[in-house]
Amino acid sequence: MAGARFVIAIDGPAGAGKGTMARRLADHFRLNLLDTGLTYRAVAHHMLREGLDLGDEAAAVAAARAVDLGSLDREVLSQHAVGEAASRVAVIPAVRRVLVDKQREFSRRSPGAVLDGRDIGTVVCPDADVKLYVTATAEVRARRRLAEIEARGGAADYGRILQDIERRDARDTERADSPLRPAADAHLLDTSEMDIETAFQAAKTLVDQALATRNEG
Ligand code: DC
Repeated sequence: MAGARFVIAIDGPAGAGKGTMARRLADHFRLNLLDTGLTYRAVAHHMLREGLDLGDEAAAVAAARAVDLGSLDREVLSQHAVGEAASRVAVIPAVRRVLVDKQREFSRRSPGAVLDGRDIGTVVCPDADVKLYVTATAEVRARRRLAEIEARGGAADYGRILQDIERRDARDTERADSPLRPAADAHLLDTSEMDIETAFQAAKTLVDQALATRNEG
């Protein structure tokens, strides 16, 4: 992609499909990709591994400073307990400031990037070329999560997954600093009744339009 850096911001609640969407857009438009949730997870993982209290602000900030975007291990960081702990360290404003700086620096690298998270369109990249807010009902997200677990040969209880998703949503949307919400200029994509291919095509069309507008201007 020629010209200035192009940034796509994707936000939404856990399990709405924004990770898959981000990966497909980054592949298609040949942009760098950052799942910002992994940066909060990396802080949480360090705290858990060292047996530190998740509310220990100084330790969490030190862990955030040490986060290296080039060595985020998705396999390790995907663990359920790490996600739970991540939503707790993510409420600490000083941790957010450190991670947001790293995320912004990433977004400025050539040729541009797709970043997904909770506050990309509102805080990290308010000037993004395209902002998407990908969502689905809590029930649909819980059913997808259950299907994923079952596909890997595991077993889980739908009611517990749903409860978990609702608790995580509450923590992400009700926190004081950078709560999850759509940016005023975000395109809403409700994937409750869409498969990933349909959702991707809808997003791709929006990005193509933004690219065309930018190339005209
Ligand atoms: O998307 P995820 O499940 O990997 O995110 C883990 C936690 O990190 C989530 O509960 C909220 C937090 N998070 C955040 O506060 N801001 C972001 N940009 C990304 C994630």
